[in-house]
Amino acid sequence: MVQLARCQRVLLLAVSAAAVCTPEEVLQALRCFDFQEEENINTYSEELLDFCEAMRAEHGGCVPQLACRCLGEFLEIGRQVRSDLADLKNHLETNISRLRNFTDRATRWQLHMRPGSPGSGRAHEARLAFWKKFMPLKRSLHWTGSLGATIADDLAPDIVGLAKMGSELLDYAKTKSRQSVYELQLSHGNGCIVNIFHETCDKPHFRIFHAFPPVHGPATEERFLDFLGISNPVEGHCYETQLALYAPSRSFECLWLHQNVPLPRFWPILDEEYLEWADILSSSFDAASHRRSFRMADIGSGAYGLWAARAAKAFLRHAEPWQGCKLLLVEPFELGDHSVLQSHLAWNFPEGRCNFVVHEEMLKSSEQLKALLDGEPWDLVDIDAQGYEHPLLKGLASWLLGRVRRLHISTHDRWKHWEIIGWLKDAGWHVPVHYPTLSTSGMTSIGLENFLNADGHITAVLPTLAWS
Ligand SMILES: *[C@@H]1O[C@H](CO)[C@@H](O)[C@H](O)[C@H]1NC(C)=O
Ligand SMILES: *[C@@H]1O[C@H](CO)[C@@H](O)[C@H](O)[C@H]1NC(C)=O
Repeated sequence: MVQLARCQRVLLLAVSAAAVCTPEEVLQALRCFDFQEEENINTYSEELLDFCEAMRAEHGGCVPQLACRCLGEFLEIGRQVRSDLADLKNHLETNISRLRNFTDRATRWQLHMRPGSPGSGRAHEARLAFWKKFMPLKRSLHWTGSLGATIADDLAPDIVGLAKMGSELLDYAKTKSRQSVYELQLSHGNGCIVNIFHETCDKPHFRIFHAFPPVHGPATEERFLDFLGISNPVEGHCYETQLALYAPSRSFECLWLHQNVPLPRFWPILDEEYLEWADILSSSFDAASHRRSFRMADIGSGAYGLWAARAAKAFLRHAEPWQGCKLLLVEPFELGDHSVLQSHLAWNFPEGRCNFVVHEEMLKSSEQLKALLDGEPWDLVDIDAQGYEHPLLKGLASWLLGRVRRLHISTHDRWKHWEIIGWLKDAGWHVPVHYPTLSTSGMTSIGLENFLNADGHITAVLPTLAWS
């Protein structure tokens, strides 16, 4: 009996990955989970995680078979994480590699859908409905699973403990300063960089921002318009990406929106993404003003191709119509049926103006990265690969020097961060500024105040290039 159940689970894991549902089926399947989105999903999770075993009969419009087909894989992964954590609680040991594996899969799990009935276009609605119901569970599996694996494994550096602490500090700072930051932004405009941790505004913005004065005009309903003129859907911004560890600049607009106050539209505040902004603006401005085509690779682009889209928009503000732009997006996990990306690009770019190329194979080695980047030089390579930055860059720093004008690298572990810095410097790259993973040093090395960051960031430029 036990054997049989195990066998069915293995099948479920194998089969449901392929047997994806249509958006209509997902919406119907979600009816089986009749908790409200604001309720604490964890109180339901025992029954939820055993859903496919517990539910046999149809009830109140819920078809269990359908729910298991569409969401069974995710529920089963979640159940495995819980089961390994229960081992840890009861016996003070567990299978660490399995716990890590399933935690990782729960964290990365994405809702893949087959196209629905023609013209129905409900994929977006289905994805949003899924996120609203299951985001808290996904988050909790991520934290508890990673923490459990760290506790059980004495060889693991305590990056998770640090991350939890970091996330609490970020959350605290966001809540504490939401009003004062709003007032600082309104009273100073673009005259200085707002620091939310110190609630100050007294250092001037990097020079490059002056080439990008904020666009005018109201945003379309249900969308944000940023200073560059990129229009983002509110729900994508505020629901799908509200992880506590995300940079404050991503959270503030949502917090203010909920308060129903008019949204200021200024250059970014000082947090870990400020440097990435500066890098994409500098790279695209440099290409535009030297009358080149613009070429950027965004490794780990996410569902929206966030930074590639920003860079392309910045480039188009200063480029002549004949200057081309190519954006290479590498994203193995989040693209789903590409509908989110397509609609983001369609909103923001004239059709065919820039060439967005998508690569969905996962990059794990420097050989793969080398093959992908071979060819004409790149203005910017921006890597955010959840730890794979280390194997991707290993042995490649000199090769990149001749092919890339600027690197922006997010790092996910301090040891990797420092090693990558070493490789870059040894190869002759100039590293004007960087800050390690989960630290409070910020950009004090260039005279700014400190701030707390989650991911580490590294800017590297050719020694001959002015960096900002
Ligand atoms: C731990 O789980 C993995 C599968 O994730 C398995 O290959 C391995 O044999 C397990 N180790 C032990 C000691 O049971
Ligand atoms: C988890 O285990 C599965 C099956 O053994 C394997 O295919 C997959 O690559 C592993 N995933 C991770 C992230 O380790």
